[in-house]
Amino acid sequence: MLLLLLTIGSAAQLPVLTRTESLPAPVVHAHSFELLANSRYSVHSGFDGTLPVQVLANVLWAMSRVPYSGAYREFYVATADNVYRYDPDTRTLSIHLAGDHRYNSGSAYEIGVATPRHEDAGMSIQAGLLAAIAFWTDTGEVVCCPMKWATDYANSNWQPAHPILMVNVLGRAPARGVDSTLVAISSDSSLPAPLVNGIDTFEILLAELAPDSQFTGIPPSLETVSQLLWAAYGVTPHRTSNNRQGLTVPSAIAGYFLTGKIYLVTGDGVSRYWNRLPPGNNLATRDHRLEPLLSGDWRPALRSASNRIPSTAPLYLIICVDDTSTYRTMQEAGFAVFNLLMQTRALGINGYATMPLTLTERSAVRNALMLPANEFPVAVFAAGEAATGIRERSGGENVLRIVRAQPAVRRGSLRIEYLLRRAGLVRAEVFDLAGRPVKVLLEQQQSAGYHSLVWDGTDSHHQPVRRGTYLITLTTGNVTVRHKVTWSR
Ligand SMILES: Cc1cc2nc3c(=O)[nH]c(=O)nc-3n(C[C@H](O)[C@H](O)[C@H](O)COP(=O)(O)O)c2cc1C
Repeated sequence: MLLLLLTIGSAAQLPVLTRTESLPAPVVHAHSFELLANSRYSVHSGFDGTLPVQVLANVLWAMSRVPYSGAYREFYVATADNVYRYDPDTRTLSIHLAGDHRYNSGSAYEIGVATPRHEDAGMSIQAGLLAAIAFWTDTGEVVCCPMKWATDYANSNWQPAHPILMVNVLGRAPARGVDSTLVAISSDSSLPAPLVNGIDTFEILLAELAPDSQFTGIPPSLETVSQLLWAAYGVTPHRTSNNRQGLTVPSAIAGYFLTGKIYLVTGDGVSRYWNRLPPGNNLATRDHRLEPLLSGDWRPALRSASNRIPSTAPLYLIICVDDTSTYRTMQEAGFAVFNLLMQTRALGINGYATMPLTLTERSAVRNALMLPANEFPVAVFAAGEAATGIRERSGGENVLRIVRAQPAVRRGSLRIEYLLRRAGLVRAEVFDLAGRPVKVLLEQQQSAGYHSLVWDGTDSHHQPVRRGTYLITLTTGNVTVRHKVTWSR
């Protein structure tokens, strides 16, 4: 797929179409998936003016890139001129209904997705939301919001071949822009802080998205687990219009229907993910923690609940809702699963969603894990190191990359976080600036994903090193990355 760099200012508006019109190829922006997930929020109104056709091209491309399970998936676009149908194979728009049938007369594009299942609609909507805000600069201006009201209006007025399950309304309005503030901090240190800005750009990751259910079974690090949970349903800096703490996904009426209903199953046990402070359901608060529920290995029990659940994954996330009959809960599950697919890709590990689940599978999963009787599992997300080999990438920095570390330390210790995209032996060593070895920090076989290590500022004889600058090298295979740190105690 050809992806080109382009700046937003020079892009053209959508011309009034008479027959069919090809949309331009999607363009790549600089923002990572994680940064967009951390920055996202919905803008419901206040639109003024049009948006470049490139925005529409990117959003429709993103919405149609995600997998879906149903028999059909249709995309409808209402502009000031017409309602169009989008053909993802040819990236063309053709007129479906003449005239202006927008729900909001100030919007630039209103994009509806018609597909049998709300989970699938949710995946597409989330892809489109992030693709739209990928156009943000420091000050955003491409804004959007999934809207039930617009959806009802579209079903009454756009004459879709199948019911539209959700409409994303896009417009031009002032926005806060991207935000790398980390707010997902664990109140009980049960999870390390996730990275809210990653390496790969959103569009490149999405272009490479490929669910894969083959795993080596090697357990991922706690940093990787933390990252996945945050991507699925973690807190972000913005506050919603009703003053709740925003998440990496939107939620109808900011109800956040998956709160306390996402479960982690590893070889150690079953835990519940909380993005809110104890007792856990105050939506104005923020947290990032795991509540242990069962100890022991419950994965065999989970796997026996359905033969569609991958049998070799080292970890599973179970997404539950309390009501499977509403769009609000089921679409939210789709939002979270899309983010999980993107996050596994960004971590260099495999991810695979068993979704939708049948009625029988729902109760079998719930019984296998002794989940609360009033919760219904709607997706099982399997994640772990790829058994099928990792994607080919050029450059060592893609195999091993330091993603967070302080350049200076006064007291305490230096923490280095790094992304390892291929399992292997990792060696970390400290040198002084004359190149003399000071200490070996780590020599260990590690799984693909995020990892961290700590240097307490001592040498190999456990003596504190002198003030000054030191070089830390991390090596795997023939790739070495370096980090400089100054101790100033
Ligand atoms: C499925 C769904 C339907 C929504 N419908 C509407 C709507 O009809 N009108 C509206 O103003 N906002 C709607 N929203 C936006 C939510 O109000 C918004 O996502 C929520 O307040 C959380 O804020 P955030 O998206 O900024 O994080 C909808 C969101 C979702 C996920």
